[in-house]
Amino acid sequence: MPLAIRPARADELAGAQELVARSINELTVRHGFGPIASSRTPHFQAFSLRDDPRGVWIAEDDGEIAGFALSWVCDHLWFLAELFVAPGRQGQGIGNALIERTLQHANEAAATEKSLITFAFNVVSQGLYVRHGMLPRVPIHLCSAGRESLAGRARGLAALRTTPVRATDADLQALRRIDMAAMGVSREKHHRYLLEAPGMEGVFLGDAGERVGYAYIASAGHVGPLAVVRAEAMPAAFGTALAVAAAGEGKQVSVFVPGPSDALSIAAGLGMQFTLPMVLMSQNDFGNWTCYLPRNPGFM
Ligand SMILES: CC(C)(COP(=O)(O)OP(=O)(O)OC[C@H]1O[C@@H](n2cnc3c(N)ncnc32)[C@H](O)[C@@H]1OP(=O)(O)O)[C@@H](O)C(=O)NCCC(=O)NCCS
Repeated sequence: MPLAIRPARADELAGAQELVARSINELTVRHGFGPIASSRTPHFQAFSLRDDPRGVWIAEDDGEIAGFALSWVCDHLWFLAELFVAPGRQGQGIGNALIERTLQHANEAAATEKSLITFAFNVVSQGLYVRHGMLPRVPIHLCSAGRESLAGRARGLAALRTTPVRATDADLQALRRIDMAAMGVSREKHHRYLLEAPGMEGVFLGDAGERVGYAYIASAGHVGPLAVVRAEAMPAAFGTALAVAAAGEGKQVSVFVPGPSDALSIAAGLGMQFTLPMVLMSQNDFGNWTCYLPRNPGFM
């Protein structure tokens, strides 16, 4: 049977995530970073498929999944969350065929901005995205430290008051105001998703009675997304979020930090290691990356 590019079904998402993990590990081992991915339950993929199936595509060859793509849209932003081709099938036009389908999603949703985060060391993915009008613009480092060593250094960093985020109309309105100030896009459906995710804590960050930002901290120690309404609030917001994560129970604390953000030198000063270089690519000069730390390359 010839290669088919078709919409994905919910019962295929687990198999697709196995392919994603294989494809990532083949790439990161080849570039000296070792295997970094394990196959996880596809919660966000299932949420995205239910929310907008126009963005989720499978390449199938002889009953096997040969490639997978997932894009989501919020307001005017189309974001390519995943594009992966099986290691033995790369360089044969499958990535091109999948990206064409997800770009149809952007057209149908009338998105005027396109963006994604990819591996800074993958010349193939960057070449493919540049050919589709998205340019590399913002370096992003995954920063990581042992929780216990960070806990000692992060003492005294919690400069802002934290209050829990709830999925109420008033809190969602407050999140929207912060997201519009930081990125110019409302992520309401994604906040609803995060607020229901097990082991996830969302907090507002308050300074003298003003909610200057929010942060999500996972019980395993990962920080993000984190957003602030102005860049001057980032150091205190970042320090506070790290202090919450360092007081948790995970072994490691990790966070994706864009190059333009003041948080990067703070992370380095605290002894956090840069473990995976990524790059944000976009059609235009989109978002204020002094004010936002993404959760991961797929969620943004
Ligand atoms: C990136 C990936 C999805 C691309 O899929 P693919 O099926 O290998 O890609 P295709 O064969 O359709 O196209 C590759 C394109 O990159 C171009 N390319 C390859 N090497 C290149 C280089 N060094 N510089 C510039 N462009 C390059 C090719 O010319 C081709 O473009 P063209 O068809 O316009 O000529 C796939 O290689 C992959 O899964 N890689 C590992 C995981 C990954 O990094 N995924 C992206 C995560 S965001």
